[in-house]
Amino acid sequence: MPVRLGRTAFARDDTRARHCDCSFAAQNFTMAKSEKIALVTGANKGIGFEVARQLTAKGFRVFIGARNEKAGRAAAQKIGATATFLKIDVSDRKSIQEAAKELAKAVDHLDVLVNNAGIIVDGDDAILKATPEQFEETMRTNALGPLMAAEAFQPLLAKSSAPRIVNVSSSGGQLLDGADGWSPIYCISKTTLNGVTSQLAAALPKFAVNSVCPGWVRTDMGGATAPRSVEQGADGIVWLAADAPQNLTGKFLQDRKVIPW
Ligand SMILES: NC(=O)c1ccc[n+]([C@@H]2O[C@H](COP(=O)([O-])OP(=O)(O)OC[C@H]3O[C@@H](n4cnc5c(N)ncnc54)[C@H](OP(=O)(O)O)[C@@H]3O)[C@@H](O)[C@H]2O)c1
Repeated sequence: MPVRLGRTAFARDDTRARHCDCSFAAQNFTMAKSEKIALVTGANKGIGFEVARQLTAKGFRVFIGARNEKAGRAAAQKIGATATFLKIDVSDRKSIQEAAKELAKAVDHLDVLVNNAGIIVDGDDAILKATPEQFEETMRTNALGPLMAAEAFQPLLAKSSAPRIVNVSSSGGQLLDGADGWSPIYCISKTTLNGVTSQLAAALPKFAVNSVCPGWVRTDMGGATAPRSVEQGADGIVWLAADAPQNLTGKFLQDRKVIPW
């Protein structure tokens, strides 16, 4: 993914939450099942890899979801024995269903699905110049992908005593202050993803389903000048995956605080 020139929305990712005081009171929660299991999509690099690394450090067994087998295996190997590669292309329903089948052979439940995989397509810089192909590819990966993954992994998640779905979104998708023109298709896909979160939370009352913005993070997508490290970007995602109260659901968060849609 090339380094983007327009940074306004990512800059907003970093600053918006500071203006929000709607923090969620932490509550204690205990997992009934002994082995905690998570699947992180797009975990071969960037924020997804760091989320997987932090979850294993917290005692999770983590499946490294990646579309590129070589990169996925290398990432799992880098983390160690508690990480396992799982091939998954989130833009492809067949691939997602195959991955769900494979996972069901390996484990008897899934506690957390982190829908992290995401893209910004080349040339996504003007809404009136957006091609249907650019729009469809972005929406398929960033919004439909997480929905299809939720559908496919829901039976395994339902076997957890405290199932969670964490959708990695962006404050670029917030409608609160209107758009600023930066990466419009990407921003629309994240607005849609937030809609998916809200609908899933309503449909799955026993699950915790939330959207989270990592802030503007130094990755291939975020670029080298972003103010946040991957460790900082992963923090709020890992908190939602592992430590947030189970009754926190249907929300959009950044830095462990609820922010407006
Ligand atoms: N970086 C930021 O500042 C920032 C800010 C707000 C939100 N986010 C969100 O955070 C998430 C992670 O971003 P990042 O910065 O870590 O980006 P990144 O370094 O570009 O990593 C993106 C990951 O998603 C994977 N991916 C893309 N399409 C996929 C597909 N169809 N199937 C499976 N995996 C796919 C990539 O795999 P390949 O290696 O195979 O391409 C890669 O592992 C994204 O959802 C992004 O929108 C990032």
